[in-house]
Amino acid sequence: MSPTTPPPPGTGDVVAGAGPIGRRRFLALLGAAGAAVAVGGRLRPAGAQTPPVPNGYVVAWPDGVIAGDPTPDGTVLWTRVEPPAGAEPVPVTWEVAADDAFTSIVAGGVAVAESSADWTVKVPVTGLAADGWLHYRFLVGADAGPVGRLRTAPPAGTPTASLRFGFASCQQRGTERVAQRAASEEAGLDFFVHLGDYVYVDDGATVSLDDYRGVYHAFKGDARLQQLQATLPLVAMWDDGEFRNGIDRTEDPARRLAAETAWFENMPVEAPGGDVGRPYRTVAWGDLADLFLIETRSRRDPELDDDAAGASTAGRTCLGAEQKAWLLDGLRSSTARWKLIASPTDIAPWANLDPSKRGFGGWDDYAAERDEILGVIAAEGIEDVVFLCGETHVFIAAHLMPSDDPGGPAVAFAFTTGSQSADPDLVRSAGGDAYAATQGFVNVGFGSTLLNPHQTYVNLVNFGYTVVQVDECAVTVEFRTVNVYDPDSRAQTLARFRVAHGATRMESEIADIPALSAPDPSRTIPSPFASTGLSAVPAAVGGVCPLPAAPSAPQPVAPAFTG
Ligand SMILES: [Fe+2]
Repeated sequence: MSPTTPPPPGTGDVVAGAGPIGRRRFLALLGAAGAAVAVGGRLRPAGAQTPPVPNGYVVAWPDGVIAGDPTPDGTVLWTRVEPPAGAEPVPVTWEVAADDAFTSIVAGGVAVAESSADWTVKVPVTGLAADGWLHYRFLVGADAGPVGRLRTAPPAGTPTASLRFGFASCQQRGTERVAQRAASEEAGLDFFVHLGDYVYVDDGATVSLDDYRGVYHAFKGDARLQQLQATLPLVAMWDDGEFRNGIDRTEDPARRLAAETAWFENMPVEAPGGDVGRPYRTVAWGDLADLFLIETRSRRDPELDDDAAGASTAGRTCLGAEQKAWLLDGLRSSTARWKLIASPTDIAPWANLDPSKRGFGGWDDYAAERDEILGVIAAEGIEDVVFLCGETHVFIAAHLMPSDDPGGPAVAFAFTTGSQSADPDLVRSAGGDAYAATQGFVNVGFGSTLLNPHQTYVNLVNFGYTVVQVDECAVTVEFRTVNVYDPDSRAQTLARFRVAHGATRMESEIADIPALSAPDPSRTIPSPFASTGLSAVPAAVGGVCPLPAAPSAPQPVAPAFTG
């Protein structure tokens, strides 16, 4: 693209597509283009003036930098600058380079930070080479901010061998962000998914747009979170922590709009058509995986009462009609091997230990709609569907069957990640003997798998995140934990699960339960859960994966109950 040709609308590129250039040349081109100015991620028409840096402005980047939603030719770059004393617009240069010294720049331009978007800058970058890592940064004048890494996705539909990503939910303040630091050190991740409760608002006091903005500022100031977000692209979805506890479709429209606006301002996500009510979308990874990100809060009917065991859920919706149609159409038309569905709300049924109460599973209040989705998957033979969930603060691995065949083959699988932070820490809040409390909650989790035979694993004790390795012939899921009270804690694997292409049962390899929040984190509770062990990841022969092995019977393990 010639620097004197106005870029097409909707791109943030000034020099992308011209091949890498040196920084001096880049700055000269910017000066010549003078024109191509992005505002809040949108380009001003050619001829618009870049405002000067405000007099006396002290440059700062209080919330770090983020690259979001990889596409085959781009990403969304995000930062927020320190508000200037006089509230004048601040020109922010952005650069994408092949090297972290920014000597070989492949794209760049100028955006303008303004009070109307709370001094955030969001640039949708296109025109980058597919399937690669690049570096990016923002500058005001000559003052550069932190350097981040961005990822582009493989070209749409092309043969792709591997995808590896982390996902998490529920990051509370007031504890060290140990899980975030550990995740930033994971080898080989392509991006990190946050399924919501990225912030927890004050239900009584967070109401206006400025209130919601303030919550993001408070949460985003953390250095470990900034480290994770500069290291890995972020793929984000909201849950109720971003609104208020238990939000549904009856929420006050003004409060809901304030929460949605602040979320879009603060996340590296472009609202389709500017509709801040529509965050659901797909991230595609070549021919290997389509990741459907669904929104499970602002369209749902109100939750049932706790005592509503056995209440009819017919006609009740979690997704809303439009989103449900979008998801089912996407599943039907996907040509990717793996259909991954990121659902902030736990999808699997979870019968309550007290049968007079409604189920613990987030979708149990919308069981008819869940059954409709699983019914489509079963009836239309849609293979290789894996749900990735959050919200519960409990690690769960479960098989998903239509309700008319609960003992039959699984038509999909669900892996739910535990909380990133102590929120609440069940072991600590139980008080008394930490090991007795740990053992007690291990027993509760094991008891849940007896009551819910579709569950393979339930861990209420540990905190952390989950790593997903997607290969052509299998998906491998690892639950990872850290001691959230030790800033230097290293992540360890709680359990590993494998779903082979076409499989109707998962395989499992389950470790003893580390008592990580107890005084001696080296102690463990023997695992009561049955493991099958993992077979090797099958290799495709001539592009065809071997048939999955017949499901092996779980190895019985004597529960190590001590009390
Ligand atoms: Fe949460």
